[in-house]
Parts: sequence; C-alpha cells; structure tokens
Amino acid sequence: MARDLLIQTLSGKSVIAGVFGWPISHSRSPRLHGYWLRTYGIDGAYVPFATHPAKLEQAIRALPALGFKGGNITLPHKERALGLVDEATPLAKRIGAVNTLLVREDGSILGDNTDGYGFLAHLIASKPDWNAAGGPAVVLGAGGAARAVVVALLEAGVPELILVNRTTRRAEELAAAIGGNIKVKAWEEREAALAGANLLVNTTNLGQAGQAPLEIALDRLPVSALVYDIVYVPLLTDLLRAAQARGNPIVDGIGMLLHQARPGFAAWFGREPDVTPELRAFVLGE
Ligand SMILES: NC(=O)c1ccc[n+]([C@@H]2O[C@H](COP(=O)([O-])OP(=O)(O)OC[C@H]3O[C@@H](n4cnc5c(N)ncnc54)[C@H](OP(=O)(O)O)[C@@H]3O)[C@@H](O)[C@H]2O)c1
Repeated sequence: MARDLLIQTLSGKSVIAGVFGWPISHSRSPRLHGYWLRTYGIDGAYVPFATHPAKLEQAIRALPALGFKGGNITLPHKERALGLVDEATPLAKRIGAVNTLLVREDGSILGDNTDGYGFLAHLIASKPDWNAAGGPAVVLGAGGAARAVVVALLEAGVPELILVNRTTRRAEELAAAIGGNIKVKAWEEREAALAGANLLVNTTNLGQAGQAPLEIALDRLPVSALVYDIVYVPLLTDLLRAAQARGNPIVDGIGMLLHQARPGFAAWFGREPDVTPELRAFVLGE
C-alpha cells in the first residue's frame, strides 16, 4: 500500500484536473482526490497549483489548451473566478462564487459551486431525520462559506434564516444578494437569536486552530436543535463540545469538504465516488 502511494504512473491518456489557490499547501483536496483515483484505479491526476491572484485568469484560461478536464478553485479566488469562466451555473451565480470548473468538449469552461451541496449532503448523511422545515436556522458568519450555506439551507426549505455576523453590513449585503426569508441580527444578539432555532451553523473561522474562540452561550438553544460547525481543524470544536455536553445533536465540518468534491470528481474522472469512513480518516491524516 505504501508503495502504491509513492509510485504514481501517468499515461498519455491520463485524465488531469487541478486545484488553484494562494497559498495551496494547506489544501486537503489533492489528498482527497488522490485517494479516490487510487481506490478506483483511475489513470488520472489531481494537481495542486499555487496561483497568485494576478495570474488566476491566465491559469484558468490555460486549462483547455493543456487538456485538463477541469479543477477546483479555492481561497482566495472563488468570487473572482465567477467572472473568469465562460458560463456559470445558476447556483454559482446565486452563491456569487465558483469552486468547480469543467472544461467542456468545445473547450469552453463551465463554473459551478458545490460547497452548498457538500454542506447539505453531509448534514443529510449524518442526520437523515433532520427536517429542514422544522424551524428557523441561525447562521453565524457572512463570509464566502456562509453564502453557499445560506443558499443551500433556503433551497432545502428552511422557513426562516437568521444571519448573525460581526460586520452587520456584510450580512445585510449577503441577504439582499441572495433573497428569501433572511433576518439579519447584530453579533451582540447571537445568543438571543438561538431561542426556538432548529439548527445552528458556525461558518465563521472562530474556533479554528490559530483563530480566536467562538464565544457563545447555548442556554437559549432548544436541546433538539442540530449544531453544525463547518470548521474542521479541530474536528471537535469547542462549539460542538459544548453542544454535545448539553445533549444537542452535532455535525462536524470535514464531511462538507468530502461531499463538495464528489460532483467534480464524477464529472472529470467519470466515476461517482463514495464518502467512506476510510476516506475521512485518510483526509484527516489518521
Ligand atoms: N468544511 C468545509 O468544507 C469548509 C468550506 C469552506 C470554509 N470552511 C471554513 O469556514 C470558515 C470560514 O471560511 P470563509 O471562507 O467563509 O472565510 P471568510 O470569507 O474570511 O469569512 C470569515 C467569517 O468569520 C467572521 N469572523 C472572523 N473573525 C471574527 C471575529 N474575531 N469575530 C467575529 N466574527 C469573525 C467574519 O466576520 P466579518 O464579516 O465581520 O469579518 C466572516 O463572517 C473557515 O474556518 C474555513 O476553513 C470549511
């Protein structure tokens, strides 16, 4: 097995995809796609590219010429990539960002966004009984990840979405851009906002290793409410620990990363990949 990992042989028929970010060294996507390529015995490669923002357009435009099937776009390029593709899916336009590229037969590039799909697919896989229509959802954060989460939750049928962000104006802009039943609350109101919620999602980077802690008392959150943290380093964040201790069901962040990769892999490499406990452990480096 270790030998298989070290020896990678590509043929002239290899299917190639890549991921563009700046920096890129932290990305777990090469490990994730590499696992699937090896598991399914596919003659292909998924290559990480450290792409400076000034070179992003050139990098994306080079994909058809180099024979790439497509790739992923990661931080900080997701919003800008929307304006650099030939066509964007309605979902990518609504989210306002692209994370998946597909080079079509005619050489044009389609941009899609699978972050919201990954968020929801992991939620449903983890808690199949969760009912989107069961009550309001509180989302903390209004950054790039929040946009995909908010769109996914509204499309899943959440009746009301309460959006809480440190910078209230950013949350208001997000709500206006996305539309639907979104109520914006100030960061100071985050604990009061939990009363009656059916779901709490953290999309801020608070609680992530190296970042400030997320300070929020959960007293007013119903014990039946699902608590979902999309931060995955550490896997069990302080928010999830606190929620678990008082009996709330919890969902961790790594599954979102794994599931968002599935549509891209299927489109490029022609095989629907599975999210398994083995994949999860491998990506986490266990
Ligand atoms: N599981 C997954 O697959 C997945 C996917 C994407 C992202 N993520 C994780 O999600 C997190 C956010 O990513 P992103 O791309 O959305 O980042 P981003 O666009 O930079 O947004 C960061 C968010 O965190 C808030 N924030 C930062 N510092 C804060 C503080 N001290 N107090 C209160 N709020 C603060 C920001 O509020 P302001 O607007 O006020 O600055 C903003 O809402 C990261 O930890 C990332 O790793 C996970």
